[in-house]
Amino acid sequence: MPNLPDRPRRLRSTPVIRRMVAETTVAPRQLILPAFVAEGLTEPRPISSMPGVDQHSLDSIRKLAADSAAAGLAGIMLFGVPLTAKKDATGSQALADDGILNVAIEAVRAEVGDDLLVMTDVCLDEFTDHGHCGVLTADGVVDNDTTLDLYARMAVLHAQAGAHVVGPSGMMDGQVGALRTALDAAGHTDTTILAYSAKYSSAYYGPFREAVGSSLQGDRKTYQQDLGNSREALREVRLDLEQGADIVMIKPALSYLDVIARVADSVDVPVAAYNISGEYAMIEASAERGWIDRDAAITETLTSIRRAGADIILSYWALEYATRPELQR
Ligand code: PBG
Repeated sequence: MPNLPDRPRRLRSTPVIRRMVAETTVAPRQLILPAFVAEGLTEPRPISSMPGVDQHSLDSIRKLAADSAAAGLAGIMLFGVPLTAKKDATGSQALADDGILNVAIEAVRAEVGDDLLVMTDVCLDEFTDHGHCGVLTADGVVDNDTTLDLYARMAVLHAQAGAHVVGPSGMMDGQVGALRTALDAAGHTDTTILAYSAKYSSAYYGPFREAVGSSLQGDRKTYQQDLGNSREALREVRLDLEQGADIVMIKPALSYLDVIARVADSVDVPVAAYNISGEYAMIEASAERGWIDRDAAITETLTSIRRAGADIILSYWALEYATRPELQR
């Protein structure tokens, strides 16, 4: 017999001992469900590149929010999809009182009260006819400072409509400060800012573009981060914290687990990660073909993001995970 006092397998020998020594858990209270509400719908409309995810009507988003609260999720992140005919160069529906997102925030907040955090995407890409996250200069470049003003007004409207948390996702320089200043000036000092701090230009946003009916041509490389950089993420995080971010987020999650870990080691605020549309779609698609064990892949995905250092995860599986105990760990 070899002299082997150190046998790590001892701690893996039964489900109970494995459970006892598990370092990482994923609880419903740490999960946020991203959800789409589209103008003019009376029924939910499936998003073909995201099987199981729908664009919602005002009625069905209320029900989804109520179910999310009942399941113990932390929040619902709302994205608005206006009628295509109403999209324009400045994304004016984002600032319209009867704009779909503003109406949906009010409806959802009325439904859930304080039982679920109502969170909103503060960005213009869902509302612009060119699909960029801000307004364009005559040369077709996204105009940072003009866009900041629109984001600030948008965030105040969201807070007035009942959002607990606003999520600036456009990667404009100074966006967190612009929101904080405007929210405070309007008396919304308690509205929380979930900053999309390190948001990379990624192929994995593909299905989301269908989900919001985006008409984007080209890419977002002049404002979203280059995929090879991680030190730059620390800079973005630092700037957002200096401007008043309450929570910082890394996005996407799976190809950037190292960035999550690095940021989590460097900050003293909660860290979120967004398990995005393409990460969802690739597992759903391979599971549909019988190539992967869907349930195990969902659990492994969420666990890996938590293990990397995220306290909070936005995931299209959030509600399913919270309502199916067999997925949980
Ligand atoms: C911008 C925004 C995007 C996502 C969240 N907020 C799209 C983009 O930056 O192109 C992507 C989310 C996902 O892919 O699941 N409003």
